[in-house]
Amino acid sequence: MRLDRFLANLPSYNRQQVRLLLVQRRVRVDGDTVADPRAEVREFSRIEVDDQLLQAGRPARYLMLHKPAGCVSATHDPQHRTVLDLLPAPLREDLHIAGRLDYNTTGLMILTNDGQWSRRLTQPATKLPKHYLVETEDEIGAHYVDKFRTGFYFAFEDLTTLPAQLDILGPRTARLAIIEGRYHQVKRMFGYFDNKVVGLHRETMGAIQLDPGLAPGEFRALTATEIASV
Ligand code: URA
Repeated sequence: MRLDRFLANLPSYNRQQVRLLLVQRRVRVDGDTVADPRAEVREFSRIEVDDQLLQAGRPARYLMLHKPAGCVSATHDPQHRTVLDLLPAPLREDLHIAGRLDYNTTGLMILTNDGQWSRRLTQPATKLPKHYLVETEDEIGAHYVDKFRTGFYFAFEDLTTLPAQLDILGPRTARLAIIEGRYHQVKRMFGYFDNKVVGLHRETMGAIQLDPGLAPGEFRALTATEIASV
């Protein structure tokens, strides 16, 4: 929310006092003096007036995990192991998954407590491609490429998928770049050709690549560069 709104919502200040505090350069956000009433502050921001701490700021967390097959992309599941079970308990709190993967899909999974950031990563409007390595039961025909580019009609959602790039790597393997994340999207796209996906692995989300040093089930914090790329 806007900084002036954050301050005026506190019992200590009315709108006029807020304006004055800002003009007098008495407000600091994350250690920097801020005079712009429209500056955006979030639950992660540390906000001070003079030497009084108004909000300590929640630490933002961003993790990449190499999702193994055989675990669900959920925070709780009564029956199966979840991706959160792969993290130590103190790290799990308030994390959500940015872009789910199916039970047997492997590869890059991102977990964070920053909802605005994860929306940017996953929403089609930001056009960040997600790359998948796909292995199919039957041969992948050269004619698939055009269909992936022009789109598939998904009756349930009543939409046509956005242009996707299919690079055929071998008779039954391909690399696919998509900018959406519809339910079972990749399997449904190949399903159009009656070709079953038998292996699916996510390699990238935008500029973030699965770290080759991470074995299935391992995780690490995202770097500042990876976080800023979204
Ligand atoms: N598309 C699918 O069909 N499954 C996944 O896990 C990811 C994308």
